[in-house]
Amino acid sequence: MPGPLLPLNDGYELAFGTVKALILAGGAGTRLRPITHTRAKQLVPVANKPILFYGIEAMVDAGITEIGVIVGDTREEVMEALGDGAQFGAAITYVTQDEPLGLAHCVLIAKDFLGDDDFVMYLGDNLLEQDLTAFTAAFERERSGTTAPDAQILLKQVPDPHRFGIATLDSEGSVVKLIEKPVEPPSDLALVGVYLFNSTIHDAVAAIEPSPRGELEITDAIQWLVDHGRRVRCELLTGWWIDTGKLTPLLEANRLLLERIDTQIDGDVDESSVIDGRVHIAGGARIINSTIRGPVSVGPDTEIRDAFIGPFSAIGARCSVTSSEVEHSVIMDNSIISDIPRLEGSLIGSHAKVIRTARKPRSLQLMVGDHCQIDVE
Ligand code: DAU
Repeated sequence: MPGPLLPLNDGYELAFGTVKALILAGGAGTRLRPITHTRAKQLVPVANKPILFYGIEAMVDAGITEIGVIVGDTREEVMEALGDGAQFGAAITYVTQDEPLGLAHCVLIAKDFLGDDDFVMYLGDNLLEQDLTAFTAAFERERSGTTAPDAQILLKQVPDPHRFGIATLDSEGSVVKLIEKPVEPPSDLALVGVYLFNSTIHDAVAAIEPSPRGELEITDAIQWLVDHGRRVRCELLTGWWIDTGKLTPLLEANRLLLERIDTQIDGDVDESSVIDGRVHIAGGARIINSTIRGPVSVGPDTEIRDAFIGPFSAIGARCSVTSSEVEHSVIMDNSIISDIPRLEGSLIGSHAKVIRTARKPRSLQLMVGDHCQIDVE
């Protein structure tokens, strides 16, 4: 177990010099296909908000407003969604990565933006419960001491360590070894996708070689710091953390974030409908002869008619759900669900149609890409 850990959210007042953020929104989303054939995985919505927005908001909440965003093939979509950052109270600089050559490669190509400033690196597909103010404050507080850290990482015990970067600590809780997705994991302490660095990381990313999978690994760069006598501080994450790259964790993130919503009904609910539990119904939405059992979020201008929307469902803007039951699912904007007896644990892309044409009842679990049509017989 790590040694002395600072309590998080301890109310420390930030008094930064310049701390920047580098948010990684490039890469390929192979594990969420077909959805990510047509969209950036970081822009898939959870609780009706793109995953990436949560990371940007966490940075701004921690007082960090100079944000660099790494973009790749999906840059147009990411740039359209984030703009210049003004909507978040931030100033965004985009750095284009031609190929997803690794997390440390992102630091390498962002050198001009980062300069010699400290920065938080945040993986755009990660979601954390905890706010990052105390994490950042602890780094800044210690940098004036004699054992100032050069890097800070967040660790979380996981049941499936072979899927992550894994840390080994010595008996005093100091980081001794980092290894990326080990076949035989030496511990169950995974690296969470939030890191803090000072400018020494630039020496590290310039010194390391690509890994066997052809990527410049940030784990290797941090290992370089350890091997060169640099101090890498670690904290154990207390709240939940989700790497949303696959369907099950994505739906889990949707569930956890919907748990936090408060009831707010801006749309129209007719007299024959029942609203039960915490439900957010956006302006312009119409609920007709239906039951909505929260936590549920219904986006603007969506129509729910003769339907049951069960817990942990997020239905985007301008959708239509008719004569169907939906539960624990994410349905993106402009989609149509009609006559489906039960849709559960599903991720439905935008502009998709899931329509049953025959009468036989059937339960469905689907992952449907944008603009697809599924006719259930
Ligand atoms: O989620 C935590 C894990 O994230 C860590 O435990 C691992 O040590 C770390 O390598 C990373 O593993 P993943 O396999 O989950 O990384 P992924 O390829 O999904 O990339 C993470 C984010 O960074 C994602 O938003 C895409 C972006 N990215 C990725 C690469 C490889 C880029 O922008 N450029 C890249 O070259």
